[in-house]
Amino acid sequence: MKTAGKIALRAERRRDVPVIHQVVQAAFGRAAEADLVDALRRGGGLALSAVATIDGRVIGHVAFSPVTIGAGNGSTPGLALAPAAVDPEFQGRGIGSRLIGWALDECRRQGHRLVVVLGHPRLYHRFGFRDAESCGILSPFPVPPEVFMVLELVQGAMRGCAGEVRYRPELSR
Ligand SMILES: CC(C)(COP(=O)(O)OP(=O)(O)OC[C@H]1O[C@@H](n2cnc3c(N)ncnc32)[C@H](O)[C@@H]1OP(=O)(O)O)[C@@H](O)C(=O)NCCC(=O)NCCS
Repeated sequence: MKTAGKIALRAERRRDVPVIHQVVQAAFGRAAEADLVDALRRGGGLALSAVATIDGRVIGHVAFSPVTIGAGNGSTPGLALAPAAVDPEFQGRGIGSRLIGWALDECRRQGHRLVVVLGHPRLYHRFGFRDAESCGILSPFPVPPEVFMVLELVQGAMRGCAGEVRYRPELSR
């Protein structure tokens, strides 16, 4: 475990792109999620791509892409948080939580209202994410209900919102 340096949280910059790829690949131990981030970026599908840096070096990353919930005229726009990654050397020290917290605030500042995530409940409950299925919001993927969660960035954003979540094609594959 590395000793603490100065941590900063911010939106990605162009020069971060190769390092983000490395961090995401290292966190997941394979290239699939890093390739996914690159594909989203290429396709204009990154609503927010945020990094954590330590002494200026990128060590964490989180991506948000647009989704719609429900079908037809009554569908509701939102964001999907995926993937989140912290360099294995720096995991378990609160950096992922700080980055995700900052990024959710940034999404709210940008006017987004709703976020869905497929992830570890222990990590996401601290931000107020809750079981999506019990709110009528359904995952298109066959996953245990407790790992599919939703967060209102704005109170009341879930009102009248129900149905299956439609992800970007890069994430649906
Ligand atoms: C998930 C991840 C981004 C969290 O970043 P981090 O800096 O390690 O997280 P934090 O130190 O802020 O810890 C957040 C909490 O999440 C929990 N958590 C993290 N990874 C977890 C896992 N794989 N299973 C269960 N809980 C997990 C931690 O136990 C911690 O809870 P605690 O504070 O109650 O102990 C990071 O661990 C990572 O990159 N993991 C590998 C890739 C991955 O699984 N990404 C998530 C899927 S999108």
